[in-house]
Order: sequence, then C-alpha cells, then structure tokens
Amino acid sequence: MFSQPILKRTCVLVLTVLASGSLGGPCDLYSTGGTPCIAAHSTTRALYSAYSGSLYQVKRGSDNTTTIIVPLSAGGVANAAAQDTFCASTTCLITIIYDQSGRGNHLTQAPPGGAASGPETNGYDNLASATGAPVTLNGSKAYGVFISPGTGYRNDAASGTATGDSAEGMYAIFDGTHYNGGCCFDYGNAETNNKDTGNGHMEAIYFGDNTIWGTGAGSGPWIMADLENGLFSGQSAAANTADPSITSRFVTAMVKGEPNQWAIRGANAASGSLSTYYSGARPTVSGYNPMSKEGAIILGIGGDNSISAQGTFYEGVMTTGYPTDATEASVQANIVAAKYVAGAMTAGPAFTVGSSVSLRVTTAGYDTRYIAHTGTTVNTQVVTSSSATALKQQASWTVVTGLGNSACYSFESVDTPGSYIRHYNFVLLVNANDGTKQMHEDATFCPIAGLNGQGNSIRSWGYPTRYFRHYANTGYIASNGGVHTFDNIASYNDDVSFVMSTGFA
Ligand SMILES: *[C@@H]1O[C@H](CO)[C@@H](O)[C@H](O)[C@H]1NC(C)=O
Ligand SMILES: *[C@@H]1O[C@H](CO)[C@@H](O)[C@H](O)[C@H]1NC(C)=O
Repeated sequence: MFSQPILKRTCVLVLTVLASGSLGGPCDLYSTGGTPCIAAHSTTRALYSAYSGSLYQVKRGSDNTTTIIVPLSAGGVANAAAQDTFCASTTCLITIIYDQSGRGNHLTQAPPGGAASGPETNGYDNLASATGAPVTLNGSKAYGVFISPGTGYRNDAASGTATGDSAEGMYAIFDGTHYNGGCCFDYGNAETNNKDTGNGHMEAIYFGDNTIWGTGAGSGPWIMADLENGLFSGQSAAANTADPSITSRFVTAMVKGEPNQWAIRGANAASGSLSTYYSGARPTVSGYNPMSKEGAIILGIGGDNSISAQGTFYEGVMTTGYPTDATEASVQANIVAAKYVAGAMTAGPAFTVGSSVSLRVTTAGYDTRYIAHTGTTVNTQVVTSSSATALKQQASWTVVTGLGNSACYSFESVDTPGSYIRHYNFVLLVNANDGTKQMHEDATFCPIAGLNGQGNSIRSWGYPTRYFRHYANTGYIASNGGVHTFDNIASYNDDVSFVMSTGFA
C-alpha cells in the first residue's frame, strides 16, 4: 500500500532528469514549431531525441557485405566504433543515408541525369567513402559524408516533400572549408526525373564559390539557393552583399520558401546564432513565382545530376511548412550544443613535417621498389643503398603540412624543391606548386594504417575513396573496384600499402 507514493515520486524524478538532461533533436523542435521534418538525414547523430533506428548503411570492399550504423543510444551520436570494426583492413562506402522521419525518404546512389552520367559503369554517381569526413560530437567520434566531384545521392520518389508552390524549410550542416566552384553541391528539393525541367523546379541549399549565377560578398564560399537555372543569393541572380563569405569550419545553412517569400539564413554551426542573409520576394524572372517544386531530394549534385561539385554534409532535414525564425533559432542552439569538432584525419605510423622519407612497396615480388619519379611521372623503382645519388633523390620526399588541408600532408620532391606529388585524372604526377586551390587540394594526402597491416595507406584528401597505388609500376590514386584498370580489386590492399622509412637523400 505505502509503496505507491514512493513509486510516483521516483517517476517524477526520472522525468525531471530526462527533461533537463535531454536536448531534444532538431526534428523535435521543428515539430513543436508546427513545421515537422518530412526528411531527416544524418550520418553523425539522431535528429529526434527518441530515434534509435538506422542512420546509414556502409558496404565494405573485402566481401561487398553491408552493415547498418545506429546511434549509441536513443537521440545520440552514431556508433562510429561499429563502422571502424566492420571496415577494419578494407575500404567502406556509404550506400544508404536513412530518413529518420519515418517516411522512408532514404538517400541512395544517384542515377544518371540530364547534365551528366555518373562515373559508374551503369551511369550512376559514385558513393562516398565512409571515412573521408571524421568529426567528434561532444567528444564522440562520427563520420560525415565527403562528396568528391562525381559523387551523389538522391531520392526521386520522396513522400511528404513540398511540391508546386507549397511551403518548406530545410537546413544542413556542411564543412565550411570543403567546397569548389563546380555545379552544384546541393541538399534539398529537386526534379523527380533527374533533368532540368525549368526555372523554379528546385529549391535546395547550395554551398560553394560558383560565380556563374548569383554571388555574395567577397570571394566565397556562400550559402545560396539552387532554384534551377540559377544559384540565388537574393532576389536577383546578381551579387547580394548581405550574403557573406563563410569562414567557419562548420556551417549551418538554411533555405526556406513559401508563396512569394523565401529566405537564406546561416551561422557558425559550432557557436553563436543565425543571421538572415536574404528574406523577401521571389525572383522576378519568369518561372520562380509561383514555384514548381517537384519534391525529389538530392545531396551533393544538381537537379539534373550536375556532378562537378564537392563538399561535406553532416546532417540535414526538410520540413513541411515555413519554419519560424524562433524555431530555427532553437535548432541552431541544438546544433551548437551537439558540439561538432573536426576529427583526426590520419592514423598509423606518424609522418613528421620536415623529414625526408622513402615509401617502399609491400606487394610480394615488388617490395624492393620505392615510390619515385622520372620527370613528372610518378613510378616505382628499385633503390638500394648503393644506388646512384640521382636515383636516391628521385625516391626521397620531404613531408610538408598538407597544402590543401593542414590535418594531412603533402610530399615535396627532394630533387625538385617546390614540386609535389599530386593527382590529376587519378594519375600521380610531380608538378610545381602553382599556388592554385586545385593544386593544393590535389597534392594533399592523409596517411592511415596500411590496409594490409604494413606501414601506411595514403588516402587522397579530395577523393577519399582513393589511395596511393602502384599499378604496372606507375603511381595512381585508386579505388577498391571501379571503372579504371588501376582500380582493380586484385591485390588492392597490398598495392595501396607502403612502408615509410627515412629518405635515401
Ligand atoms: C563486389 O562487387 C563487384 C560488382 O558489384 C565485383 O566486381 C567485385 O568483384 C565484388 N568484390 C568482391 C570482393 O567480391
Ligand atoms: C556531453 O558529454 C558529457 C559527458 O561526456 C555529458 O555530461 C553531456 O551531457 C553531453 N552533452 C550533450 C549535449 O550530450
């Protein structure tokens, strides 16, 4: 009899702890605001406080099997350790990014479209590496979706997304330092037939420094809206100086639209509050008012499968209805509280900036060969302590801080100072540093523990599905299976593993 009041009191206590200890998720906040999520995508965390289901699926190269990554607990961060275990000593791709909203609006490998067929043999786009974008959330490891040119995800049969001129909102968290000017790194509403069906047939968040259509202040990158046949920073496809260049490592990007009204908003995803970069009437050019939204969902590509862009996506949602600024403020506070921090890009035997290194092949029958160069060609050559000085220098590399990302490295030629190993069309070359962003990024590599258990495997920063590989004694960045002969899965782990030692010269 007397136990009942005690039980009641215990329940009240537990509820109080949950209410004060739980942040809720962004989609709980959108629901409270009356504009619920109809799609919620994240490889890093649950976006509802009660969500403990599938976040994403990965496929590993060793046997083509898949596994599903779920949060560590309801509402929590993704179980990255489960991915690390499943993907140990092989490569892994993100095959599905699940919709947490319950509507089944999952994102999968994007099909060919009007602008481009993807690089896969069936014309589909590439899938992202599962390890290209490591982060921590409140100290807990997770992985984002690193989109290289040619990579894209899509759902052409989404349910509950805005169509026609109806209202919607969306946000995404991107890497503010990973972008380019290609078309178009987008997340949001697009055509259902993968083709450009005209002005106003898209409403998606764009991030990058494309200057073909609209621009913002400075040299970019900017948050803009891809409304089809135009990236808009404001009402006209001209410069909107209220749309700033983004400088933060993590960026919250928002776009929302309703009849003859739309807005672009943004913030540092790690601190502070949102600013409004545009809020007002629709573009006056024919086709954008009213809108003709079609309701497919894209990630990393344009509505017509334009595949030239790059960027990193961590999480994003789409809503039904036009979210209030107050709702979006609470979502930004939730994002800040998630505590995104960049993760370690390298692992395995450590490289030391300023040192001279040699990189020895580990494939049986070739393991007296080292990564070397003859002019601009990167090759492998047999080098010994009694080799000529010229050959020793050709096979020695000075480790420098990554030209395109300081968390990784670049390899400067010992005999040609100022020239670095870079990839070009996935072939390794030694080129002079011409100071361009492209050269810097193409010359940036992130070593991890060797996939065959020896030394290091040296991942391309910009194409993290690809590693340094020797193939027919020539250097490439190769994926574990793919359309190029040098992507052959036979002896892949051995061909991408190199033992680093002190340089010959
Ligand atoms: C994985 O599947 C691809 C084709 O989809 C095939 O070419 C490859 O051999 C498979 N890999 C393994 C390890 O079975
Ligand atoms: C972050 O982690 C700490 C302990 O590691 C925990 O006390 C805190 O509640 C966490 N914050 C969030 C927002 O989950």
